[in-house]
Amino acid sequence: MIFDVRDRGELLRRTTVELSAAVAGERGIFVLQRIGDLVGYIDVRSVCIEGAAEFASFNLAIRTRWQGRGLGTSLVKSAEEWVRRRRIPFLIFHVAVRNDRAFALYQRLGYTVCGDVVAANKESGVVGDYYAMGRMLDADEVALA
Ligand SMILES: CC(C)(COP(=O)(O)OP(=O)(O)OC[C@H]1O[C@@H](n2cnc3c(N)ncnc32)[C@H](O)[C@@H]1OP(=O)(O)O)[C@@H](O)C(=O)NCCC(=O)NCCS
Repeated sequence: MIFDVRDRGELLRRTTVELSAAVAGERGIFVLQRIGDLVGYIDVRSVCIEGAAEFASFNLAIRTRWQGRGLGTSLVKSAEEWVRRRRIPFLIFHVAVRNDRAFALYQRLGYTVCGDVVAANKESGVVGDYYAMGRMLDADEVALA
């Protein structure tokens, strides 16, 4: 995931597209800001199969200097709440095998490895291997939301 980008115009264009989708109810974006400074974000979306939301997924990033303060944890919890409100029972996402920090965070929050994904263009050295990690949201939690 690329968080600090050089091309701010491209970031703005992508963000505008993503926010438009959020208004349509397909995607939620939670952004943390401090005095105009972007601290981190999570974008969560439902994945539909044959028109029905089967599961949800998210992307998460916290700016380096803001890491280790519980902000990633709190954004994942916001995303889980977003998913529960839509009565979607399962969250799944990819995390790079070498991303020990993110892996530990997700494990602490109850996510387990569902499978391995080997990137197709591994030879380029640009993309590595990923775990698919997931978690069933408790039926009670879904019912109470
Ligand atoms: C992975 C990532 C999102 C974690 O975000 P974070 O805000 O640092 O996560 P948290 O602070 O919630 O948890 C991380 C650590 O802080 C500790 N922590 C949790 N709450 C805390 C609090 N209130 N005060 C201090 N530390 C706290 C946790 O114990 C955890 O310990 P660790 O250092 O052993 O990992 C962040 O490192 C990141 O953006 N990385 C780059 C992008 C990326 O990898 N995204 C995920 C792709 S799948």
